[in-house]
Amino acid sequence: MSDKTATLTIGDKSWDFPVKAGTIGPDVIDISKLYAQTGHFTYDPGFTSTASCESHITYIDGDKGVLLYRGYPIEQIAEHGDFLETCYLLLYGELPTPAQKADFVNRVTYHTMIHEQMSRFFSGFRRDAHPMAVMVGVVGALSAFYHDSTDISDPQQRMIASLRMIAKMPTIAAMAYKYHIGQPFIYPRNEYDYSSNFLHMCFAVPAEEYKVNPVLARAMDRIFILHADHEQNASTSTVRLAGSSGANPFACIAAGIACLWGPAHGGANEAALNMLQEIGTVDRIPEFIARAKDKNDPFRLMGFGHRVYKNYDPRARIMQKTCHEVLGELGLRDDPLLQVALELEKIALHDEYFVEKKLYPNIDFYSGITLRALGFPTTMFTVLFALARTVGWIAQWKEMVEDPSQKIGRPRQLFTGAGQRDYSPISQRR
Ligand code: SDX
Repeated sequence: MSDKTATLTIGDKSWDFPVKAGTIGPDVIDISKLYAQTGHFTYDPGFTSTASCESHITYIDGDKGVLLYRGYPIEQIAEHGDFLETCYLLLYGELPTPAQKADFVNRVTYHTMIHEQMSRFFSGFRRDAHPMAVMVGVVGALSAFYHDSTDISDPQQRMIASLRMIAKMPTIAAMAYKYHIGQPFIYPRNEYDYSSNFLHMCFAVPAEEYKVNPVLARAMDRIFILHADHEQNASTSTVRLAGSSGANPFACIAAGIACLWGPAHGGANEAALNMLQEIGTVDRIPEFIARAKDKNDPFRLMGFGHRVYKNYDPRARIMQKTCHEVLGELGLRDDPLLQVALELEKIALHDEYFVEKKLYPNIDFYSGITLRALGFPTTMFTVLFALARTVGWIAQWKEMVEDPSQKIGRPRQLFTGAGQRDYSPISQRR
């Protein structure tokens, strides 16, 4: 806590509020007593200036384009680490020793199967259901099968539920994909690493051996690392708010998946690829840039802009590099969509509208091209985002549950509706 205070003056009255300092980043004004002392609420639609919690997990410096997981820069983790090591780091706060890593991988590996009866949920959906609809439904149903890890007051059960979520999301995501394309489910295989196992469950068929390409598996693993956590974004805030009522972790993650689906959030990777396909060729880019700048046109450049990053999203740089690696490995280096994306980025970054509004490519701009090259349909892109973000959601949920100061989230409002009035019988209404 810093010894600074913030003074609020309304009319002839003034109040002092404590200012809290973090280890890095902006200080906060603690307004938890504001209403009690002043009779006023604050008003901040979209929470552009409001910290909802204290956290030790992830830090973003939007102006510098910095992203730290438990203090480690995303570039270093993506370069030298792997996704399960990142999961351990986000959950426990430190990088694992070799023994801790081996034990964690083992514990996750032995939770990758789901209850056999859960496979019946899928047949209740139409084959052409969006896989995100399936994910919301099936993940929400997990609490009906794993009620022995829903008592959130028990640290043991919290950790088992966390492991189960991390371990089972690839299995459920792969099943949603297989169901979508009418192929049989492929069971997890314990001899594979996390990302190879996921690719195998998605792309293997019973009719023949499927060999996982190690370059593509490494790219998949890095894509999971990039999407793992991101402070208090919309879906993470949804998970925290759901968890603040005491809801079980599976239900909270299902709520996070529902929120992530929106095109302004995790659905942007699907929307960005659809946009690149609609643009089609480099010569049509000016038409779309003009539309993105037109106040009367709701069109936005998908994969561009960010609430926090007012500089290049560090994840987008790594994603662009991964995109080149995957396309190179698959002999797709001249993918026309990549040419459109590179040219669109170049034009936008020199256009005064985007420069003035500090709009840069975000993680979703290059992920769609990469995921399509890996063999996924656009409808699976946000499912992959949800798979990776599950560890961030669960780490933030655990931190919220274990925070002694946490209470049920219940925002207030600025009411501008009708004041109190008496009911009039319908016979008297004209
Ligand atoms: C993710 O929060 C997170 O951390 C999210 C995420 C994560 O890892 O969890 O990083 C993942 O969601 C990335 C963002 C993916 N979304 C998109 O790519 C969709 C396109 N982007 C926009 O919808 C928008 O940039 C947002 C939603 C991402 C951010 O919007 P903000 O912060 O609410 O900003 P804003 O809408 O107020 O925009 C500020 C100005 C506006 O113009 P003015 O009203 O000031 O004149 O910039 C304009 C906007 O019109 N603008 C854009 C634009 N994004 C913002 N104009 C054209 N194209 C865009 N993409």
